[in-house]
Formats: sequence, C-alpha cells, structure tokens
Amino acid sequence: MSKKNFYLVIIFLALLSCRNSTINSFEEDKLKDINKRVDELISKMTIDEKIGQMIQVDRSAVINNPQDIKNYYIGSILSGGGSAPATNTPEAWADMYDQFQSYALQTRLKIPLIYGIDAVHGHNNVYGAVIFPHNIGLGCTRNPELVEKVARAAAEEVAATGIDWTFAPCIAVPQDERWGRTYEGFGETPELAVMMAAPAVRGFQTEILGSSNSSILACAKHFLGDGGTKGGKDQGDTQLDEATIRKIHLPGYISAINAGVGSIMASYSSINGLKMHGSKYWLTDVLKGELKFQGFIVSDWGGVDQLPGDYKSKLETAINAGIDMVMLPYDYKNFFITMKQLINEKRIPVSRIDDAVRRILKVKFQLGLFEKPYTDRSLLSKFGSQEHRMIAREAVRQSLVLLKNENKILPLSKNAKRILVAGKAANDLGIQCGGWTISWQGSSGNITIGTTILEAIKKAVSPNTLVSYSVDGNEIDNADVAIVVIGEEPYAEGQGDRSDLNLSTKDINLITNIKSKGIPVVAILISGRPMIITNLLDYCDAFIAAWLPGSEGDGIADVLFGDYKPTGKLSLSWPKSMNQVPINIGDENYDPLFPYGYGLTY
Ligand code: GLC
Repeated sequence: MSKKNFYLVIIFLALLSCRNSTINSFEEDKLKDINKRVDELISKMTIDEKIGQMIQVDRSAVINNPQDIKNYYIGSILSGGGSAPATNTPEAWADMYDQFQSYALQTRLKIPLIYGIDAVHGHNNVYGAVIFPHNIGLGCTRNPELVEKVARAAAEEVAATGIDWTFAPCIAVPQDERWGRTYEGFGETPELAVMMAAPAVRGFQTEILGSSNSSILACAKHFLGDGGTKGGKDQGDTQLDEATIRKIHLPGYISAINAGVGSIMASYSSINGLKMHGSKYWLTDVLKGELKFQGFIVSDWGGVDQLPGDYKSKLETAINAGIDMVMLPYDYKNFFITMKQLINEKRIPVSRIDDAVRRILKVKFQLGLFEKPYTDRSLLSKFGSQEHRMIAREAVRQSLVLLKNENKILPLSKNAKRILVAGKAANDLGIQCGGWTISWQGSSGNITIGTTILEAIKKAVSPNTLVSYSVDGNEIDNADVAIVVIGEEPYAEGQGDRSDLNLSTKDINLITNIKSKGIPVVAILISGRPMIITNLLDYCDAFIAAWLPGSEGDGIADVLFGDYKPTGKLSLSWPKSMNQVPINIGDENYDPLFPYGYGLTY
C-alpha cells in the first residue's frame, strides 16, 4: 500500500470512529431524554392509568365499545391470529388502528396505544401481503443478511397498516420434530438462533428502534425453552438441567438483546414443572438482571390464566415474577379490579408496577408514538410490492434443500416436451404458505395473492412445453418428467403436534403410481418439519425439501429449471424413522437419513 493510501485509510478510520462515537453519544442523549420524559410522565400518572398501560386486549374485545380504551386507559391492543377488520385490506387495517388510537389519545395524559400482531412470515394476517418462507426455511439459507431483508420488508408492510409491533422473531430451538411449532424456529441448534435473531430484530426495528417511519417493535419469543418440551408437546414441560437450558435455549435471547430487541414474550411452557409465566428466576433474575434486558416482557395469549390458583393469585404471581404487560386478551374489567386490589393489599408493590410501566412507556417513546401516533399512509405503496415479492422469491430459492438428485435429473429443461405436475399442494397457495396465514391455523385454497408451484412452472417453461396438471396423477400415462408436490396441510401451535411423521398413504401412492408408469419423479415436500420419507426415496429421482415457502412459488421454479442452483442446508436433522425422533446433531449414535447441514447443489 502506498504511503498516500495508508494515510487515506487512517483518515477514513478516524472519521468512521468519530461518526460512530457521534452516533453513540447522540443515542445516549436521546435515551437520557426519553428516560427523563418517562420519569416526568410516571410522576403524573394515577394508579389507574398505570394499570391501564399493562393491559393488552384483542381488537375484538373493544371493537364494539372503543370508548373503553379511554375509560380503562388501555395501553395496548393486538390482533390474535386471523383477528382482522371485516374488510381485510391494508386501508381498513389503518382505519381501524387510527380509530383505536384516537380513543387512547382522549385520555387525560394522551398516552398512545401500541398495537401488536403476529407478522411472523410477512404481514400474514392481511390479504395481499407478501408471504415469506417460515423460519425453518430461512434457517436453511444460512443467510443472516437475507433474513434481515425479509424482516425489513415485512416491517414496511406492517407499518403501512399503522401497526407498531410484531410478535416476532420466534427464536425457539426446536428439539423434537413432533412439535407443531417446529417450523416457527430457525433450526435445532443455538447457533442458528444466534445467527438469525439479531438480523431479524434489526430488520424489524432498524438499527435504532423508531429511527424510521417503518421501524416496528420486535418481540423475541417464547422465553424460555419453548422448543425443548418433552415429546415436543406444545406448551409442555422442558425437563433439562439449567446448564443445558442455558446452552441450547438462551443464546438466541442474548443475541436479540444485544441487537436491542424492545420486547420479549414469555413462553406457555414450563421448565422442570414451573410455568415460565410465573418464574421470577428466569423472567427477572436472569432476563432483566443477569442479561440486562431493558425492554418489557409481554405474556402470551391468556398465559397468565394457566398459572395455578385463583385469578388474583395468578396475577400476583405473574406480575411479581416480571411480566410487564398482560395479553389478557379479553376481560380488561376484571384485570383492572383485581390489580387494584392486589396493589391496595400490597401483594404487588407499586415499585413493580412503576418498573413495568416505565419499560412500556420507554418503548413507546423510542417508537416515536407520542410524536406520530397515527398511520403513515405513505408506506401503503410498499404493501404487497413487487420489490418485496422479489425478496420473498430470493428467500424461497435459498431455503430449498436438495436431498436427492439421481443421474442429475435436475435442473430440468425448460424445453421438455411434456411435464406432468401432480399433487394437491402443487396448486394450492394456502398449503404452500402454511399456518399463520390469513387465519390463525392457515387453510388450503386460494387464500391470498401469490404464485402457486404449478403457476410458476407454467411461467418458467417454453411455449412448446406441455404442462399437464393432475391432482392424483391418474390421467397422464406419459411425460418426460413428473413434478409431484406432497406434504402437510396447514396448522399452527398445538394443533400441529403429531405422534407420527410418516407421509400419508395418499402421498406415497401418488408417487409410486406415477413411478410405476416409468415417468421420472421429482418430489417436492411442503412441510413444517422433516417427515419420514425413507421408503419413498427409492421411487424419487430427485427430492426437494421446500418447507413452507409462502406466496412466491416462482422461487421453486427457479431451482427446478436451474435459474438458481440450490444452496440450502438442513436446519434440522432428518430422521430415518419415528424410532429416531427426537434427533439432533450431537446426539449419541447420531445416524439420521440426512444430517443437519446437508444439502446438494447442481
Ligand atoms: C399465541 C402464540 C404466540 C402469539 C400469541 C398472539 O398463542 O403462542 O406466539 O404471538 O398467541 O397471537
């Protein structure tokens, strides 16, 4: 390096460090200002107004009596899965948000409300939103920059509807493939949770929470050990010693906290028989004390109600354990009365209430809600945009894992004479999106805007190629190749818990029948987890794990026809049989069908 360039590098580094220290000092000043504003506001608040800030209700609880937002000083509203305005358009969501906000701003101190939603793979409750691959597929990309881009795009669509907060990223570390929420985690190792938690948080929040009109609050969930329950039972019991809990399930949260995550959701599950919603040790001593989490802890939906004892005891336990905001989600009147009793009887110290309210208000100030409480409708052009669909298509490409490619049958030629496409999932947007899409559980059918796998194949091939579609593959006796899409119908949470991960007889027969006609088979599995395919593999010339790819089926065609060489690597170990489940890298006698990290390319 020449002397001149050397000095230029020195000057550049000096300017950079000066810039960073300027930003840091600017940030420090901003936080000091916010803390001062929080102190001033808290000093004016009555106990009723403080209790109100700890309430989160579903929109359905106040849609017909919004004046109660004002009367009970309600600080937060959410949309549970599928809880949408009658007209499911972005504009109708923004109108609903603004109407709710207008009632919050009629309170004495005009404290704005914060609205939360499960935007877990795009703004998935809203018709026409771009639906991204679920986290299990994003984990297979091993691409944190892409995960940040996906979260950023989702944040822009969420903010376009006025909503300020997503209950994402889920940084569960699923250990048992029978768990219905396996697909919500990035993968079976803490390394993947660490790799993706911070980029996802930064994508949603931007580098500094509130620094842009599309910065929304992220929520790392579900703290702690949701993916480690015995038998993969949803909301079950994670029976591990503390060292193992810390090794597997905690690292993702450290990463999220270091990225500045502003909220964390408590898990329904238990650790060694103790419900997380009542664990002072994990919520306060570890999360707020040892890890210095500065944001607020929100309960899960009715999570407080699952604690032992009567309602009053449940609330006492949960709030004293460290829950700051309670996702009730309906009975705010009973909450209000019970909290007043608990405070008057000194069963919950006012200092605990002040700590909870301080944490909540700080996030609201950081988000800029006091200055800009209403929807910024300039973002509506971003909703469902082509730009976002291209990001989703890229994520689909990179999430696919090629498990088998006999005689290099893939990539297929775009000039093949005849391609048979078979399987219900080949032409079903709802199935390829999976759970948490439009409705809580998701559903098959043409549920939103997007491109099915069949439509993508038809777009990709040459005009001379005949693409024949047959749900059961019966009508067609000859084709150059058959693309057969099999897999799971949509589900969410405990409704996805399974004791058996074998493919359906229907799916197996679909493939074996087509193969028996002498047609080469390219199998595509749409699923929220690895399934038992060992005996079926012999009938498949190629096999792709596509997970739950979302609305942009073009990404699958890109890989099928070689416009993108597959790069995905398994984010979970693939069991040979149910006898091996649960199976995770590092297990003794680890002998999966395909190991964690496996993936072929062209
Ligand atoms: C659900 C889920 C949680 C979600 C919340 C709000 O039961 O456990 O992940 O964020 O309720 O929908």
